[in-house]
Amino acid sequence: MPSAGDDPALIARWRAEFPITDRLIYLNSCSLTPLPVRGAAALEAYAKTWTELGGRAWYQHWVGLLDDLRGDFAGVLGADLDEIALEPAVSAALVSIASSFDYSKRNKVVVADIDFPTDGHTWLALERQGVQVEFVHSPDGVTVPLELFERAVDDRTALVCTGHVYYTSGYIQDVKALADICHRKGAALVVDAYQSIGAIPFDVHASDVDFLVGGTLKWLMGGPGMAFLYARRDRIAGSHPSAIGWWAMRDPFTFDVQHVDLAPNARRFEYGTPAVAAAYTSRAGIELLREIGIATVRSRHMLLSQRLVDGALAQGWNVGCVREAERRTPIVTLRHSDPARVVDALRVQGCIADYRPGLVRLSPHHFNTEAEMDRTLELLAPLRETVPV
Ligand SMILES: Cc1ncc(COP(=O)(O)O)c(C=O)c1O
Repeated sequence: MPSAGDDPALIARWRAEFPITDRLIYLNSCSLTPLPVRGAAALEAYAKTWTELGGRAWYQHWVGLLDDLRGDFAGVLGADLDEIALEPAVSAALVSIASSFDYSKRNKVVVADIDFPTDGHTWLALERQGVQVEFVHSPDGVTVPLELFERAVDDRTALVCTGHVYYTSGYIQDVKALADICHRKGAALVVDAYQSIGAIPFDVHASDVDFLVGGTLKWLMGGPGMAFLYARRDRIAGSHPSAIGWWAMRDPFTFDVQHVDLAPNARRFEYGTPAVAAAYTSRAGIELLREIGIATVRSRHMLLSQRLVDGALAQGWNVGCVREAERRTPIVTLRHSDPARVVDALRVQGCIADYRPGLVRLSPHHFNTEAEMDRTLELLAPLRETVPV
């Protein structure tokens, strides 16, 4: 039986949500997915409530909407509502988590050297409070074998903080196996899942991670200004984060300045007034994801990204991502000594890619087509360096 991912009418309908596809080949969704049509409509609805109701919009619409959004995140992760906090950014979520640990007995934090910078910065910033950060070094700049974590985690280790998917290689880390390693040694696992949630099926309870963070910029199609924090149920009651704000209180609307009475649920990791416009677009993006279905998104990602990888290999590119679609998300990286030049040359031809140091990065989403992958390969062919990097 054909899956939804093979139905041209459905693919066309989802593509029509992204008017940018009329003009450009957009291959930068692992940085920021463009605003879908329903996201724009959600912004209009937001403006209307704000314009017409002013502060009453909080009670008539926004407080409820924020709770609905917590529920959306819980649904995407397979979590329970009370395990979810809204955050302004993954960086802020990590700081709140970091502020909840006691480093007096265990002061070591393990991070991978191919992790997103904020995954290191959060803990490096605590060095003056005695935290020591140890980086495990990826042997190939693509993967981080579990044995490296196994070796690094010891009885001084408070936690491992690493990506579910690494942002330059698309490599999918086995976070369940990593959680087992951490827990066997008495450490916690904090996962940065920004690059995985919305791209691969995931059940946060089955993964057994202690904390997990992510946001809506990328595969969730909700844009900037909104992120989430998951805290495993047994991690909530005993946690006393110090990086918080009044929205972390049991009842913020008692306006009690003299006491900290933390919420009994994961909201205790929240800060202040959330970006409501981003909540509207986030809900729209997640609604679209639900309609398409994560299985279809995943199969489109595998199909499209593998076409790019195979084509680039055939042209002789030095591929910087995982080669097998099953082991990565649709992040395709190509090594080049001047990736900005390649990205510029693609842009002039109507193809939007991105770069990171030494890497051209192409990231299709469900709305891209095989024809676009072929056109991108045509454009890439003359841009390859003849002396491979
Ligand atoms: C893996 C990963 N973590 C974190 C971030 C950034 O998070 P934020 O800007 O919300 O702090 C990104 C990308 O922007 C990312 O790819």
